Amino acid sequence: MTELADLSDPLLQIRGLDKSFGGLHAVDNVSFDVMPGTIKAVIGPNGAGKTTLFNMIAGFLPPDSGKVHFRDILLTGMQPFQVAQEGFLRTFQNLKLSSHLSVLNNVLLGYHTRSSAGFFSGMLSLKRSRMEERRAVETVMPILEWLNLDNKCDIEVGNLSFGNQRAVELARALAADPAMLLLDEPASGLNMHETEDLAERIQEICSQGRTVLLVEHDMSLVMDISHEIVVLNFGKKIAEGTPSEIQKNDDVIRIYLGGDDA
Ligand SMILES: Nc1ncnc2c1ncn2[C@@H]1O[C@H](COP(=O)(O)OP(=O)(O)OP(=O)(O)O)[C@@H](O)[C@H]1O
Ligand SMILES: [Mg+2]
Repeated sequence: MTELADLSDPLLQIRGLDKSFGGLHAVDNVSFDVMPGTIKAVIGPNGAGKTTLFNMIAGFLPPDSGKVHFRDILLTGMQPFQVAQEGFLRTFQNLKLSSHLSVLNNVLLGYHTRSSAGFFSGMLSLKRSRMEERRAVETVMPILEWLNLDNKCDIEVGNLSFGNQRAVELARALAADPAMLLLDEPASGLNMHETEDLAERIQEICSQGRTVLLVEHDMSLVMDISHEIVVLNFGKKIAEGTPSEIQKNDDVIRIYLGGDDA
């Protein structure tokens, strides 16, 4: 881990984020905090603005207005590679794996995102220096072991099962040693067993001191592992609270089950 978290201050502060696409108000004045070492979920129906919100947090999309702070550092306006390189946060969905590269090389790419020399020079110095290569491999091997990928290091990612490819994505994100992970629908396409496994992994990531912001449609996963939940509907935050508070919230029940008498 990078630094020990100060548990009393928010790690991430999202203030008044707003984004429209033409006439569509995709994210409408959304604010919330994420406390260090916690798992926070963002839920809401399809099209509620969850991915747009994530893209603004990670710097993939500039907000029309609003700000995101990581502790006292303004992330808004930074390029995504800067946000990743500084080790603030790492997204999961936007890590396109290179299917012709081995598992190990894909994960090493994640490690070099974080290297001070940057991605391409990192690759060059990797070629030049055997010591640097050894250090990189030593750093990522425990992550591969933890995700049961250590016996698959030399396999091309394209030949792995979908569940294992997802695990490689997670390994690659963790190889950059981010303080915070943004996971957009990490359970989509996974079977029940793989989803249970993922739930345990996310909780372990959190108990290692990292902070997790999670978008997920699998409600039992969200309710089981989240400390707090934010609910979006048509771009607006309509509720925020613990899983039990959210489950009792009338507005949330209405949008998920439909109708006032639900
Ligand atoms: N680049 C874009 N251009 C135009 N409209 C967009 C763009 N990106 C998203 N939208 C629209 O903004 C709204 C919010 O989309 P977003 O992808 O953030 O929703 P979401 O909550 O992630 O949905 P899902 O659960 O289906 O992934 C949707 O109506 C979507 O069609
Ligand atoms: Mg989405």
